[in-house]
Amino acid sequence: MHARITGWGKYLPQRVLTNKDLEKMVDTSDEWIVTRTGIRERRIVGDDEATSTMAVAAGRGALEVAGLSPGLLDMVIVATNSPDRMMPASAALVQHALGAKNAAAFDVVGACSGFIYALVTAYQFIAAGAYENILVVASEAISRAMNWEDRSTSVLFGDGAGAAVVQANEHATDMLSFVLGNDGSGADLLYIPHPCGMPTNVSNDRRYYMIMEGRAVFKFAVTAMVEASKQVIDGAGLNIADIDLFIPHQANSRITQAAIKALDIPSDKVFVNLDRYGNLSAASPAVALCEAVEQRRLKEGDLVVLVAFGAGLSWAAMVLRWQPGA
Ligand code: ACO
Repeated sequence: MHARITGWGKYLPQRVLTNKDLEKMVDTSDEWIVTRTGIRERRIVGDDEATSTMAVAAGRGALEVAGLSPGLLDMVIVATNSPDRMMPASAALVQHALGAKNAAAFDVVGACSGFIYALVTAYQFIAAGAYENILVVASEAISRAMNWEDRSTSVLFGDGAGAAVVQANEHATDMLSFVLGNDGSGADLLYIPHPCGMPTNVSNDRRYYMIMEGRAVFKFAVTAMVEASKQVIDGAGLNIADIDLFIPHQANSRITQAAIKALDIPSDKVFVNLDRYGNLSAASPAVALCEAVEQRRLKEGDLVVLVAFGAGLSWAAMVLRWQPGA
């Protein structure tokens, strides 16, 4: 059976944290953050919100676009690195809140590559003929893993959620190729030791905050984005010039610039929302895909590359021929 994305949604928390706000919290400056990362502001999850609540909002939006009732979902996959709890999966909370009573539910912890890992998983279940309707959500309350005194991490990340509905389709599959990879020898370069639920549920112990070797991750990121993009484009039997839109993981504008320069991709073919949201971790490509459609950057028949990298050290990419309506 073939599969296609038929719905998309997003949720961004109301609270905006600007670079100027950060200047009051840690030894940094708006000028440093903008020139070294491209980020101007990010959203921060409310005290009564968590990864699961944002995932529900984004998931509802995606189901609405797809015109699909939650009761018809066969599976809910949540990609997150900031789950409400260690156990159960955030997907269990999302399944219940959506009323997706007939759906299996589990989380994917694939760092910033998690949304693409989860999407590829959904396509496999449909291709195997096992399921027809799958909701994939990427959601992050990753600000709760920030040590606000650590300027090497706290200026980079933001919270939010994005979602996609993948449905069986009798004509053709929109995913033309994919690449998933991981190099566990870099697992200590970027990690979070603890879940990120509502403040009443989590410890404020500093040992649990995100730890990152930024420079090493930067070098890995550029190579991973370049190689994964080349591999999926090649795997789809296409050339770089055939691609209408690149949606790279929104981590740092210098990483994106270095990657697109190496790939020889013009910047007008690259989607950017990093300036408004920072690094949304797994939710980054999900929110970017949703906004690309909303802003009409992605039209029926367009070829799009999604590519991400992250802790693990992981990478993932896919080529889609965008055709949700056909
Ligand atoms: N404000 C002001 N100064 C800062 C800040 C800050 N927020 N952070 C670092 N500096 C200083 C450093 O102390 C250093 O000062 P020094 O020269 O006096 O020693 C100087 O700026 C340069 O520091 P570098 O670490 O070399 O800065 P770099 O240009 O590498 O930028 C950054 C750091 C932004 C972290 C970059 O390395 C990066 O983006 N790495 C990739 C990180 C990433 O993408 N992680 C997410 C992966 S996805 C996932 O799975 C979650």
